[in-house]
Amino acid sequence: MTGQRKFYLKTFGCQMNVYDSERMGEALAADGFTATDDIGQADLVVLNTCHIREKAVEKVYSDLGRINQVKRQRAGEGRGTVVAITGCVAQAEGAEIVARAPQVDLVVGPQSYHRLPDLVRRARKGEQVVDTEFPEEDKFEHLPERAPRPTAGPAAAFLTVQEGCDKFCTFCVVPYTRGMEISRPVTQIEAEARRLVERGVRELTLLGQNVNAYHGDGPDGRPHSLARLLGRLAEIPGLERLRYMTSHPRDMGSDLIAAHRDNSKLMPYLHLPFQAGSDRILAAMNRKHTAADYLRLVEQIRQTRPDIALSTDIIVGFPGETDAEFEATLDVVRAVGFAQAYSFKYSPRPGTPAASLDAPVSTEIAASRLTRLQTLLGEQQASFNAECVGKVFPVLFERAGRHEGQLVGRSPYLQPVHATAESSLLGQILPVAISSASPFSLAGTVVAA
Ligand code: 5AD
Ligand code: SF4
Repeated sequence: MTGQRKFYLKTFGCQMNVYDSERMGEALAADGFTATDDIGQADLVVLNTCHIREKAVEKVYSDLGRINQVKRQRAGEGRGTVVAITGCVAQAEGAEIVARAPQVDLVVGPQSYHRLPDLVRRARKGEQVVDTEFPEEDKFEHLPERAPRPTAGPAAAFLTVQEGCDKFCTFCVVPYTRGMEISRPVTQIEAEARRLVERGVRELTLLGQNVNAYHGDGPDGRPHSLARLLGRLAEIPGLERLRYMTSHPRDMGSDLIAAHRDNSKLMPYLHLPFQAGSDRILAAMNRKHTAADYLRLVEQIRQTRPDIALSTDIIVGFPGETDAEFEATLDVVRAVGFAQAYSFKYSPRPGTPAASLDAPVSTEIAASRLTRLQTLLGEQQASFNAECVGKVFPVLFERAGRHEGQLVGRSPYLQPVHATAESSLLGQILPVAISSASPFSLAGTVVAA
């Protein structure tokens, strides 16, 4: 067929996948593809998948059913469609995907994205390709450079600095799908950060499954901590805000805590999962901390940065969790007071140690615990937002709002903030007087600086 080849890319799961999708999109663009939102026009369909919970995997397979119809219809019109599965389902299930969904042509694990254009070429010739090796070479060295955009890009971006995890929480597939912990070198990250700033990025969120365990080589050949990396990035002119996620309580070093006081570009927001409030469950999860350890850490962080907004991840219904143990989770939530949180029903993942534990919690009990927990978390989030009314926050405007003449940005505490403002203010950080709050967002008026 003639004309430019098009790709359709859909991202599931976490911010690491969002980042990976962007890099894959850029690699495909460098190879002559253009992006499309219309799957019927796509010569290449990429599903960048998530394996963290069963539901996430089911979504991928249900999408594949629909994609199969599109592929058949296009084939009827004499047009070929390469269907590629990337991400953590690709890594975890490999060739099993092709067995279950024969319409899939290409399966690529997260460490091989730099090979994507080549692999697509092979698939276009009719080969069924599965590449889930952990290659010798560093994909970041082989992905195309982050070139400037012709038009102003988004003001906030993700930057993966660390991948994989060595913590082996017993419920979690990440150590298997993303492999051992690897930190990118400092200079490689700095170079990417500078290029993103040239594109108009003002805020960077450093990503890693265990980002605060970051220990990449510095220019002096010695490992740098995350706090040191953040210190160096804060020097980049034009880069105004820094964030990072996800952190493990065990790796919350004192220099990182101090950075929340000393690094003026580091935003007062921290995502710090605690997963469960019972020490017996925490031990069964192999979390390597107790509830008291977590509460002590929160206290220390708040002493250093009193206004910090805390966010967390919590699992209910881990095998064997009793009512009293679930109450202990609620106790921790009450003791901390979260600005925001993610909570999940435990989902057994094949190959993880917890999947073979006895005493599953019934779906009904897990669901009712989740509802109670989410009600409490919702109240905390709503009251955190309500307390912001009357304050003035610097807001980084990131996109147009739903209403004409309205922009949406983020407060330092990561809340979405709606304000009436001209689109020329996109990408700028301006003071906004907060006049109202909803459970999930704020609204206000731009005031003179
Ligand atoms: N079941 C439910 N939730 C899980 N998470 C990770 N694995 C599972 C699982 N098997 C949650 C954890 C983690 C977040 C990213 O997803 O809370 O922090
Ligand atoms: Fe999974 Fe996070 Fe535990 Fe690592 S620290 S195993 S990514 S839950």
